[in-house]
Amino acid sequence: MVRLKIQGGISLHGEVEISGAKNAALPIMAACLLTRERVQLHGVPRTTDVDMMVQVLQHLGMETNWVEAHTLVLRVVDDRGHTVPADCIEAMRASVCALGPLLARRGAGHLSKPGGCRIGARPIDAHLKGLRALGAKIVETDTTVTGSARELIGSEVDMSVPSGSTVLGTANVLSAAVLARGRTTIEHAAREPEICELAGFLNSMGAFIHGIGTGRLVIDGVRELHGTSFDIIPDRIETGTYLVAGAITGGDVLVRDAHPEHLGAVLQVLTSMGVELTEEAGGVRVRGNERFRRTDIVTESYPGFPTDMQAQVMALMCLAQGTSTVTERIFPERFKHVAELRRMGARIQSDGARVEITGVEDLAGVEVTASDLRASAALVLAGLAARGTTMVNEVEYIHRGYERIAEKLRGLGAAITEVA
Ligand code: EPU
Repeated sequence: MVRLKIQGGISLHGEVEISGAKNAALPIMAACLLTRERVQLHGVPRTTDVDMMVQVLQHLGMETNWVEAHTLVLRVVDDRGHTVPADCIEAMRASVCALGPLLARRGAGHLSKPGGCRIGARPIDAHLKGLRALGAKIVETDTTVTGSARELIGSEVDMSVPSGSTVLGTANVLSAAVLARGRTTIEHAAREPEICELAGFLNSMGAFIHGIGTGRLVIDGVRELHGTSFDIIPDRIETGTYLVAGAITGGDVLVRDAHPEHLGAVLQVLTSMGVELTEEAGGVRVRGNERFRRTDIVTESYPGFPTDMQAQVMALMCLAQGTSTVTERIFPERFKHVAELRRMGARIQSDGARVEITGVEDLAGVEVTASDLRASAALVLAGLAARGTTMVNEVEYIHRGYERIAEKLRGLGAAITEVA
């Protein structure tokens, strides 16, 4: 069990560099299955989810080499495999985005069905509906999905789900449609920056995708894609997390390589809470305040407030004046951090997918247990601000999406150490 020990109450100062976006890197890496040529990816974050995708791809006959700290070279050396290993799917649901590329390039794909996870039910019905619309034959059992396709054919596909659009569903269908015969139109495509990044990557391999950044992607299929060299954008959620770290500790932090244009809703919420944010040449500077103002957030598909920043902003709400609310529209059960924040002295009332947070003067350092990636981040943020020592147990989740988080926070002056 990995634990983080945090001595709270220290203002963070200095500069922190943001790593590449995990949620862009994962579908982009899977899309490397679409060519036999060499692909070089720059700005790949060194997180455990990326390691897991490397394992998936190696299993599927890909050679992978880290040629620099964040530069990964990938090349298919054996294209006979069709099966995404069950343990990989179980460990990381994003392994599912190998299915579209496998169908498009190898004519078959097999995986065990990802179940729900700690942030709630996570079906893949929309992925499968989209791939079927392209002509793939998909056979489902209770536990497995097997797809086959002699040829994919361009079609009209709709990626809407009750909460908006599915992100990895769009990634899967987009990564299949690029090699389909004729034109595919994806309606209600996810507009997240990570999907734009995937589309830009596919175009750099020779695909024809139009409408990037809109809810309607038009793809003219090509027979083959070629190798490429591509830079991955900085991680907007890691950026947002460090902005909250600066704010919650009343510090002064320059978050380098931040792309504020990807963080509109988050910056708006932080500003409304009284966090001072300034855009500078190298990134975004955050300065914290004595006490923050209450606010309300509702998580939505991009460009709405991201569910992946909900827990971290809730940590800040715990210390704001007045009662804030959080309504979770993407994953209504994504509140595992609530019980742990309460143990630190937070006043939080939950009512299904809506939570009320009444700010307190301070939080107390205690022993808490992490339950998923963003919940872990929220507990670390609360610990940085709390009185005394916070011990975050089972914090290995945090390494799925944050590269060297303890080291980066120490660089800003935090007293945080990993203990076994
Ligand atoms: N949904 C369906 N049917 C589907 C797919 C999704 O009903 O076939 C529903 C889900 O139950 C959920 C909503 O649609 O209510 C949105 O889920 P989505 O498919 O967009 O999520 P995802 O693609 O599986 C990605 C990110 C998540 C992030 C969500 C939402 C990656 C690798 N994962 O997941 O990231 O929370 O989009 O923005 O890109 C994280 O980084 O901490 C993380 C969980």
